[in-house]
Amino acid sequence: MPTIREVYLLGVEHLRASGSVEPAIEAEVLLRHALQWNRTVLYTRWETPIEPEPFSRYQELLEARATGRPVHYILGEREFMSLTFAVDERVLIPRPETEILVEFVINTFRGSPGPRTPDPGPRQLVIIDVGTGSGCIAVSLAHYLPQARVYATDISGPAIQVATENARRHGVAERVVFLEGDLLAPLPKHLLRSVDVIAANPPYVSAAEAPMLAREIREFEPAVAVVAPGDATAVHLQLIIQAPRWLRSGGLLAMEVAAGQADPVRGAVIGDGRYGDVLVLPDPGGVPRIVSARTQRQ
Ligand SMILES: C[S@@+](CC[C@H](N)C(=O)[O-])C[C@H]1O[C@@H](n2cnc3c(N)ncnc32)[C@H](O)[C@@H]1O
Repeated sequence: MPTIREVYLLGVEHLRASGSVEPAIEAEVLLRHALQWNRTVLYTRWETPIEPEPFSRYQELLEARATGRPVHYILGEREFMSLTFAVDERVLIPRPETEILVEFVINTFRGSPGPRTPDPGPRQLVIIDVGTGSGCIAVSLAHYLPQARVYATDISGPAIQVATENARRHGVAERVVFLEGDLLAPLPKHLLRSVDVIAANPPYVSAAEAPMLAREIREFEPAVAVVAPGDATAVHLQLIIQAPRWLRSGGLLAMEVAAGQADPVRGAVIGDGRYGDVLVLPDPGGVPRIVSARTQRQ
């Protein structure tokens, strides 16, 4: 049998030839998945001959990747906020940029950098995640903020199934309520004017831009997760209009935006007239990623 190093290098070449832009990383991830080895084990056994069973599993994984199917759908999971989320074609694969949104909300209520909020003390925090997808935002916030009760909505029933599975997986199902429907419409009315945070990573591409998306996104990720109805910021603008009805006085609206969207979204928040404390936060590459604001205190 060929050695681990030999099959790894064959995999790199196969993925490169099929158009992968990160063939070395992807071949390693798929090989470790086939072998069920961590990185340390792999790096100490390069010269070991591969067993037939993991070899054929590895070949199947490489073939699946060569069709363009994203690695995380093939593996069936994705790390987010140091938690492992189940993912498949029913949901968007969580992106690292979205961790900035989650950390921003966590820091707000832990008193770390970020806009301070009056300490809610032992009071329960009420958080809404709009367009929950895999549940990565809702479940992470429930995990890291034990005082939080989270309501998470999504227009996609299949996404709600995946998110529900992820809440169970991380032991927070009792504090996260999933609701299928449009934006804030499915929320129970007793939450009106009492919500502490509305967080969202809305679809971020216009229908006109959709054909220009990378093939992996266009062909494999759910269109409803990526493409907004009409303008690229249509969902953000709807949330800016709808959120104050649900937020308590001084409650926080925090939205992820795609590159180039921070200015128009920030402008819409300011133009709305019901918000203050408007902030724009960049990602580590300097791209503005989060627009947040608080409803004016009365
Ligand atoms: C960009 S994805 C974000 C998924 C997840 N929150 C994340 O950050 O990985 C947008 C999500 O919004 C959902 N969505 C799109 N339009 C919606 C609407 N009108 N109401 C509720 N959810 C919507 C999609 O189904 C999708 O799960």
